[in-house]
Amino acid sequence: MFDLAGYMDQKCRKVDAALERLWDRFDPYPTVLLDAMQYSVKAGGKRLRPLLCIAAAEAVGGSDEAVMDTACALELIHTYSLIHDDLPAMDDDDFRRGKPTSHKVFGEATAILAGDALLTAAFEVLSCHRGGQCRDSNDSIHLEIICLLARAAGASGMVQGQMLDLSFEGKDISWENLKTLQQLKTGALIQASLQAGAVLGGGNAEQVAALRAYGAHVGLAFQVADDVLDVEGDAQIIGKPVGSDQMLGKATGPSVLGLETAKTKAQELVGLAVSHLDIFGNKGEALASLSHYIVERDR
Ligand code: IPE
Ligand code: IPE
Ligand code: MG
Ligand code: MG
Ligand code: MG
Repeated sequence: MFDLAGYMDQKCRKVDAALERLWDRFDPYPTVLLDAMQYSVKAGGKRLRPLLCIAAAEAVGGSDEAVMDTACALELIHTYSLIHDDLPAMDDDDFRRGKPTSHKVFGEATAILAGDALLTAAFEVLSCHRGGQCRDSNDSIHLEIICLLARAAGASGMVQGQMLDLSFEGKDISWENLKTLQQLKTGALIQASLQAGAVLGGGNAEQVAALRAYGAHVGLAFQVADDVLDVEGDAQIIGKPVGSDQMLGKATGPSVLGLETAKTKAQELVGLAVSHLDIFGNKGEALASLSHYIVERDR
């Protein structure tokens, strides 16, 4: 039986240590901005996107070291998205990762700028070495990763999904429309995490395609599970408010499908995700375990 808790613990420590090493790149930044950036990054997320990136690299025979910068960049992008998602103009939430949200502590303007700075820092990490020197111009693999993450985070991915999320508030939409919204707002970055891991780990085209397919299903399952936790999770454990979606009239798994069908759907998606891992044999164990965790988690 795969020891997922041990695996997550070990890899999270490595990611946290790598994130910690990033801060000295930002010396010239005004302290309050750096404080706000660190406040949210260090508040204690699950580090799921870095973990998926690492597990994808390992599934194709690569090492966690090969993806550590990218794993950090993914977490910076994700953390920026949470800061902005919680703003009064968006979901207007007061708690995140068990702490008051960024705008509650630092004010809205600084929270917006901290998000901006985390997003751009991600691309600095991907394109520069420590000390600010650019990567080699023949480092085509990092260019590919930069393009992949930019597309996943921006108007072709997460930001478009966030836009749809806002525009569907209070509307009765179909599962097909909800799928599109969730694949964009959450699935895109998760799928990119897996693809980046596969590419940087040295995966071949078949392996990369399999991990993309796994990522599409797992990304959607992850957001449906998040929606379920917003209905029946424990605010202390999830570290953010429950009932927020219903209050805002959000289109979610439970609102579109009903709570029980949403849970069944998440399980079904995990089954589909896992079916793409066969080609990895026991190297796919961490990813298989992570996909079950994604829908069974309590936080
Ligand atoms: C929450 O993501 C936001 C969504 C995309 C649903 P996570 O549940 O991964 O949040 P952290 O990183 O653990 O705080
Ligand atoms: C957020 O979805 C997705 C992002 C891109 C940040 P939610 O609004 O459901 O995330 P939570 O529940 O606030 O973490
Ligand atoms: Mg939201
Ligand atoms: Mg939200
Ligand atoms: Mg949510």
